[in-house]
Amino acid sequence: MVSEHSAAQILVASNRGPISYTVRDDGTLDSRRGGGGLVSGLSAIGSEADALWVCSALGDGDREAVRRGVGEPGVLMLDIDAGIHHDAYNGIANSVLWFINHMLYQTPLEPVFDLEFRRQWGAYEQYNRAFAQALADRAGEGAAVLVQDYHLALVPGMLRALRPDLKIGHFSHTPWAPVDYFRLLPDDISRQLLRGLLGADRTCFLTRRWADAFAQCCTELLGAESLKGTDIGVHGLGADADFLRERAHRPDVEERLSDLRQQIGPDGTDRKTIVRVDRTELSKNIVRGLLAYRELLSTRSEWRERVVHVAFAYPSRQDLAVYRDYTAEVQRVADAINAEFGTEGWSPVVLHVKDDFARSLAAYRLADVALVNPIRDGMNLVAKEIPVVSEAGCALVLSREAGAHEELGEDAITVNPYDVTATAEALHEALTMPVAERSRRSARLAAAATALPPQRWFLDQLNALREQR
Ligand code: F6P
Repeated sequence: MVSEHSAAQILVASNRGPISYTVRDDGTLDSRRGGGGLVSGLSAIGSEADALWVCSALGDGDREAVRRGVGEPGVLMLDIDAGIHHDAYNGIANSVLWFINHMLYQTPLEPVFDLEFRRQWGAYEQYNRAFAQALADRAGEGAAVLVQDYHLALVPGMLRALRPDLKIGHFSHTPWAPVDYFRLLPDDISRQLLRGLLGADRTCFLTRRWADAFAQCCTELLGAESLKGTDIGVHGLGADADFLRERAHRPDVEERLSDLRQQIGPDGTDRKTIVRVDRTELSKNIVRGLLAYRELLSTRSEWRERVVHVAFAYPSRQDLAVYRDYTAEVQRVADAINAEFGTEGWSPVVLHVKDDFARSLAAYRLADVALVNPIRDGMNLVAKEIPVVSEAGCALVLSREAGAHEELGEDAITVNPYDVTATAEALHEALTMPVAERSRRSARLAAAATALPPQRWFLDQLNALREQR
């Protein structure tokens, strides 16, 4: 049943929406627009389209905004009970599904699927049901619904049952686990997840590798027949070149650039930079990146005083103790390197932990080497953005486990993310790459990185979904 609300023809659903609210000291609400691929992708359809973005209230500010009826046209924020959201988002999505897809468990002691897990799974089902119901209420006849990510894996199946007329797509922004790892989940849960996604007309991934892993899980756990009603799509998400190049030359970036230059070395010093920018995320492998840099300084002493590792590690998911501990470990290892090797005028590591997009762009501009060494990553847009923005062209040290490796591998220096010694050697190779080769490779990396800008990524999915029988 379509309700009396205005019916939308294009709907997007994601846990995190395009806007967030905080309550100021005087009780008024402050709003902030987020960035990212989905926000710029959606801009392709223009504001006149009948589009609706359904998302969840994430914090107290968001909940207050919903209660006061404050909102943006085209955005529906769901005020799901805070306890349910906590169990679904922190308990299941980030502590189980994220860990499965990124293969993060230390298996001798975890995971433990006990009664507490079952309780949280109940919350995950409720949270998914709230989204499915809201989408069913607001979608026009035959509308296209694009559901995002592992938070909402059950939504396609639930929505299909409520509204068989809709065209439903699902997009996974993460990797997908190999079948033997996916099987860590309790059997009924793994099947429920697969069936949830197979409720979509199209279920899509960032690379062929993740799509194949999903298909294999379906074949082995549900049988080959299970794939008959669903198309599996691959849509690589690229960097937004026009936006980045323009944004990277605004005054706030220029200001950060001169601050960073001072931190790297006093005027006149000629030091190379190894740049990394990440959320402080377990899968990003920041600690091993620092250990590799440490090994570079200890085995190749010629680099002392001649290189700086500019590492930005922005807080993420700090409700989870394991993320807080990881953040502390990043800081500890960076401090230890500075204590061991630092001199009067040289800090070997310049670590920043306060999120600042303008400063990230300033670091991109300065990068001689970009270090992107995740354990596993759906795509990794930083690997694509740095070559586009770097002024002198950069050498890219890239993990073979990042989705971006499928597109950029040929012009990158590939590393096994667990091999610290090989990563140290790769950093040396990157730092010594001849100028002409470096700029040739960097230009090719930038071209490959921008081949599928977010608008095209979004429209390709929408068109493929609408054209489906
Ligand atoms: O990589 C998957 C993803 O959903 C991204 O789209 C996004 O950058 C990140 O995870 C969001 O994490 P969170 O909303 O938990 O901060």
